[in-house]
Amino acid sequence: MLIDQFNRKINYIRVSVTDRCDFRCVYCMSEKMTFMPRNDLLSLEEIARVIKIFNGLGVEKVRITGGEPLVRRNIDWLFKKISEENNLKELTLTTNGSQLKHKATMLKNSGVERINISLDSLDPDTFMRMTRIGKLHEVLEGIQVAKKIGFKKIKLNVVLMKGLNEHEVFNLVDFAIDSGFDISFIEEMPLGGTQFNRNQTSVSNDAILNSLQNHYKILKSNFTTGGPANYWHVESSSTKIGLISPHSHNFCESCNRVRISCKGELFLCLGHEEKVELLPLIKNNPYDDDPIIQAIINSMKFKPESHTFDLSDNKPAVVRFMSHTGG
Ligand code: GTP
Ligand code: 5AD
Ligand code: SF4
Repeated sequence: MLIDQFNRKINYIRVSVTDRCDFRCVYCMSEKMTFMPRNDLLSLEEIARVIKIFNGLGVEKVRITGGEPLVRRNIDWLFKKISEENNLKELTLTTNGSQLKHKATMLKNSGVERINISLDSLDPDTFMRMTRIGKLHEVLEGIQVAKKIGFKKIKLNVVLMKGLNEHEVFNLVDFAIDSGFDISFIEEMPLGGTQFNRNQTSVSNDAILNSLQNHYKILKSNFTTGGPANYWHVESSSTKIGLISPHSHNFCESCNRVRISCKGELFLCLGHEEKVELLPLIKNNPYDDDPIIQAIINSMKFKPESHTFDLSDNKPAVVRFMSHTGG
């Protein structure tokens, strides 16, 4: 079992399978992104191997992220492989929804029960402005297909930005309630170099909570995934509203996750640079998992107690993009 120096049990890994994406969301990427050469990425076989090793070390929850995980070639193989060779409580996915129409059935058949889908706007023009290239109707079609197939839970993720989608809070929550989905509002995090002026665009979750309380009957829920979200339950509905405020780091003390980047770096915290390079160990030890297991166990000493994001100088707190680390 993986336990860090602050006695936190690590039973959840977030795995970025690609830094590529078919969107360029303004808070996530710059307009002209240079992605990693494909040869630098972990192969799908290597990703499956790392996940199996973590499962052997007591990790029970795996979230596949990116970039956009569903644009990685042969991703179907990976989902099938993970579901076949691990004993997980949960295999799950965070996606932008663009490919869901084609992939939802495969996901369901691989044992994925809950998916998180980014949806920043219900207005096609605003959606296009926020994603730079995304087509809303494709995502909505994907969401409808996923809903029909019947996942246990779908959660929408929204990053609100001043002057863009800030006014859509109620529309988005109504959409979630009508669809039986959960919905999370995520405060913008200062990662990467997105060329966006965060001081001017960030919307605080305190303000969102205030307007939600004035508009809906919501009750604080004690539901938690061990993650950053505080959940509120919308009365007379199955919808929970999550508020993810990376700036108030109140969940770090119970943090249960580490991240594996698409290049095989093991990141111990979203807000810190500490990492362990697993790729050389994986390449140099094709048949022996022990050195990799030892490196993972050893890394627990370096997991930071908490993170802080400073928004005051508008510089990224961590220079890598979220798509590299996997949100
Ligand atoms: P669960 O982990 O299953 O609760 O899902 P989630 O809602 O955290 O996952 P999702 O991929 O939908 O991410 C939502 C937001 O939470 C993203 O912006 C993530 O970057 C953020 N998030 C997830 N884990 C962490 C973390 O360890 N620290 C911080 N600051 N943010 C995180
Ligand atoms: N700040 C906050 N949320 C972000 N996401 C991507 N980049 C950022 C950022 N800089 C969100 C996406 C996705 C989730 C995994 O993270 O919208 O829903
Ligand atoms: Fe792609 Fe998600 Fe980043 Fe948007 S937030 S550019 S959908 S990885």
